[in-house]
Amino acid sequence: MTQSTLSRTKSSGIHVAILMDGNGRWAATRGRPRSEGHRAGVESVRRVAAAAPGMGISTLTLFAFSADNWQRPRAEVDALFGILQEYLEQDAAQCAAQSIRMRVIGRRDRLPLPLVRAMEQAEAATASGAALDLRIAVDYSARDSILRAACWLISSLEVSPGEFSRLLGRVTHSGEPSAEVDLLIRTGGERRLSDFLLWECAYAELFFTPVLWPDFDAADLAAAMREFSTRERRFGKSSPAPAIANS
Ligand code: IPE
Ligand code: IPE
Ligand code: MG
Repeated sequence: MTQSTLSRTKSSGIHVAILMDGNGRWAATRGRPRSEGHRAGVESVRRVAAAAPGMGISTLTLFAFSADNWQRPRAEVDALFGILQEYLEQDAAQCAAQSIRMRVIGRRDRLPLPLVRAMEQAEAATASGAALDLRIAVDYSARDSILRAACWLISSLEVSPGEFSRLLGRVTHSGEPSAEVDLLIRTGGERRLSDFLLWECAYAELFFTPVLWPDFDAADLAAAMREFSTRERRFGKSSPAPAIANS
């Protein structure tokens, strides 16, 4: 598989994916309910989305709710969905004004109908946004996406990575082939992928920060981007320098 067989992000900008983790701990340190951490996390989403286009980021994929997060208490799940719905309803116009295209990836068949409606409305209202693809992953599981895409292929003898990316895009509702991640950021201090974009992160640079998501701001994103710019990405090739003997 070569890099060129997989989909790049539009206009070849950088694709940053963020595991927005640490909302619960942020609330706990303040003696507040977890839902307040999730609510405070929305402010970070706003800050990061507004700053991203100016940093050369063309696609920003945010992990908001994993398929495994259904295992949390019903009250927390309901609060999360309510906060998400409110965000989509409140911010669609502002995103459209900032030329930010909102899209939601993941399963929709298990979500409350009003939330699905808010997703569809936000997507329609921001469809012409060209400055940034803001993709929000809800009820998302990379493994489940890969499995469902594989099921489509059960009768195919051979499939290219590019074709498989297109299928992944279809099963995750992204509307286009699933795009390679350039930089994956996880806030909150854990160092794991938690079933996020496993296929797309094959060559992603990984950046882990102890900063809790509600505290993450444009300066933190800029620091991650600076660190990213120092990484040498080889995609399996040998390093171009130094030019010594062939070996
Ligand atoms: C991330 O924050 C948000 C979701 C997973 C929905 P958490 O709620 O996981 O916060 P911590 O990890 O418990 O601090
Ligand atoms: C991953 O965070 C999912 C999101 C950020 C939405 P979790 O907090 O659910 O992940 P684990 O349980 O620590 O792996
Ligand atoms: Mg967590």
